Amino acid sequence: MSSDEGRQIVAAFDPNRLAPEFYENPYPTYAALREHAPVHRCPDGTWFLTRYADLDQIYRDRSHFSSDKTAAFGPKFGVGSPLFEHHTTSLVFNDPPYHTRVRRHIVTALTPHVLQAMEPQVMASVDRLLDRLAECGNFDLIEEFAAAIPIEVIGNLLRVPQEDRQPLRGWSLAILGALEPALTEQQREAGNRAVREFTDYLQLLVTDRRAHLSDHDLLSRLLQEKDLSTQELLHNCIFLLNAGHETTTNLIGNGLALLLSEQPSLQRLRREPELIGSAVEECLRFESPNQLGNRLVVQQCCVGGVTLPAGAYLNLCIGAANRDPREFPQADVFDIGRKPNRHLAFAAGGHACAGMSVARLEARVAIPRLIQRFPGLQLSGERVRGGRARFRGFRSLWAHV
Ligand code: HEM
Repeated sequence: MSSDEGRQIVAAFDPNRLAPEFYENPYPTYAALREHAPVHRCPDGTWFLTRYADLDQIYRDRSHFSSDKTAAFGPKFGVGSPLFEHHTTSLVFNDPPYHTRVRRHIVTALTPHVLQAMEPQVMASVDRLLDRLAECGNFDLIEEFAAAIPIEVIGNLLRVPQEDRQPLRGWSLAILGALEPALTEQQREAGNRAVREFTDYLQLLVTDRRAHLSDHDLLSRLLQEKDLSTQELLHNCIFLLNAGHETTTNLIGNGLALLLSEQPSLQRLRREPELIGSAVEECLRFESPNQLGNRLVVQQCCVGGVTLPAGAYLNLCIGAANRDPREFPQADVFDIGRKPNRHLAFAAGGHACAGMSVARLEARVAIPRLIQRFPGLQLSGERVRGGRARFRGFRSLWAHV
């Protein structure tokens, strides 16, 4: 890309009006921004940041940057709306002390011991799905594989009864869809409806669980915490169910799309299965499931040579930072053996993803088991992108054996 082309892309860039090509392939736009305007002022007055070092600095600095979205979500969702109540009560959109209190409960519940106990369950779920795929021969890897795994895993973690799990993905997509930079009236309504239905459902589950507490599920453990109100408990459980679904579906889906369309990488992984750990990290870097984060500047500061005033609202482009050649040599090359690989797919600092070990476990089990089970697996060519700027993945990805 020439310098002039890069500058033209930057001049036309508006996260609220993204062209269809952007959703297909945002990386040329990211490269232009990273090169010519790494701390870019958008038409709506917010800032869009694309360099690795700048994002890393911001994620680790909680004295200048806040996660509190009350001011941003008021005009976006309407104060008091279900979406507003939900998102402003989720730990991820809060600062200490509330954030510290809720996070502690989640982190202490996801111990290495809990994770170790999850692995055989994840293997069994994956194998059941593979048995079903073997019967079809031609299938959608998203709907029938990638999306089904996190529902099982998070469902098991909170002990949501099997027969209740079907609506979870739809609710999750509608609630997270409302976080897109530009929101339609339809998305807002769907999001509000999903929060209402999800809360009503969880309320019933909580009443039932209070009567049948156990030491083995996250919901029981959270229910026994005295410092969580019922509203806080409900919204953070919804957040956990959502945070774990779409992102992990996209990690597995994006990873399979990459490996199945890059035969040399796939063959290498078949020859050297011990590379699965670094392969998953590379999938996280190369096609980050969560492409955008946000922070509010609470105290004037300087980032990438630009002074950001208090009150500035920042869009942190993880997808662009993870392709920054200043941090990653040959950043646009997918290399399953890449080391080091300090990507920001799970963010960093005090809000770094609390479920990263769960997501990694799912991908490390699902991807190799699928490719070992079906040595002749091929993409059919039919693929539909998710059409979202924040969450990058596929709506469908057809393959055949
Ligand atoms: C590939 C899958 C995943 C990706 C890419 C991902 C990404 C992220 C990112 C970027 C954040 C930080 C958001 C911010 O501060 O702006 C985050 C936070 C969080 N994630 Fe994940 N996540 C994934 C899977 C999961 C899973 C499976 C769970 C639960 C089991 C989970 C639970 C959480 C929680 C609780 C937070 C809030 C942490 C806090 O604010 O302190 N995530 N995630």
